Amino acid sequence: MFRKIAISAVSALGLMTGAAFAAGSEGHVEDVAFSFEGPFGTFDKNQLQRGLQVFTEVCSGCHGMKFVPIRTLADEGGPELPADQVRAYAASLDSVVLPDGTERPREWTDKFPVRSGEGMGPDLSLMAKARAGFHGPYGTGINQLINGIGGPEYIVSVLSGYTGEEKVEAGTTFYENHAFPGGWISMPPPLSDDQVTYADGHPATVHHMAEDVAAFMMWTAEPKLMARKHMGFVAVTFLIILSVLLYLTNKRLWAGIKGKKSAA
Ligand code: HEC
Repeated sequence: MFRKIAISAVSALGLMTGAAFAAGSEGHVEDVAFSFEGPFGTFDKNQLQRGLQVFTEVCSGCHGMKFVPIRTLADEGGPELPADQVRAYAASLDSVVLPDGTERPREWTDKFPVRSGEGMGPDLSLMAKARAGFHGPYGTGINQLINGIGGPEYIVSVLSGYTGEEKVEAGTTFYENHAFPGGWISMPPPLSDDQVTYADGHPATVHHMAEDVAAFMMWTAEPKLMARKHMGFVAVTFLIILSVLLYLTNKRLWAGIKGKKSAA
């Protein structure tokens, strides 16, 4: 317990000094009010399920998530899919290639598939924490503590930041993008309105899909966010009670001596 508190304190200080990775600093990143922000924020399980759908139907063609075990889709605090659905989902993904070259169906105990090669994008498992959107006076200190470092916001901004301009350089096509540092990204605009059909009837505009998939990527990068916040809350409550008790004990211990002084 004490070690966890010490680690939290040190990482909070780290955030305060604004030492976070500075990838998104050049582009424009807008703030999004995600449900998981702030000291009491929680993941919205319906949003995570929609994000998983966008990832599966759109992004997984070019992006892997090699650090995320498929079974965690059933975990409490995550998308919380029923176990049988998670098993069926795992079986629907690419099969696993064994070291001897043979293949077997993917199990839910396996991780998400890897994507590599020409035109493929970077692994998305930890992307929401690897990129930051908030820097400088706007992003440092207490603001980052409350709104986060802006990784999910950066992802939303990249996905909805295309201007429609493109250019070809050394055989590669680049697309102009407001949020991507440098302004030109080699990922073709992946989203267009109504590209997926949500089962819960949620509107599927580019912005909605971008928010849902960004929230999902925040969960893959930090699946224990809610447990960690809960732990922090318990620790702070404990410290407050302890402070009150110490104050009262201190008063009691010195009461005799202090009393004498005022009497003299
Ligand atoms: C056609 C393939 C393709 C699809 C589909 C695709 N991406 Fe990408 N993505 C790429 C490539 C290629 C890059 C590398 C871009 C670069 O560095 O110029 C990339 C980069 C990224 C980055 C990193 C940007 C950075 O800061 O380095 C994010 C985040 C991302 N993609 C998210 C997504 C999401 C979310 C989806 C689904 C909605 C998606 N991508 C769909 C190919 C794709």
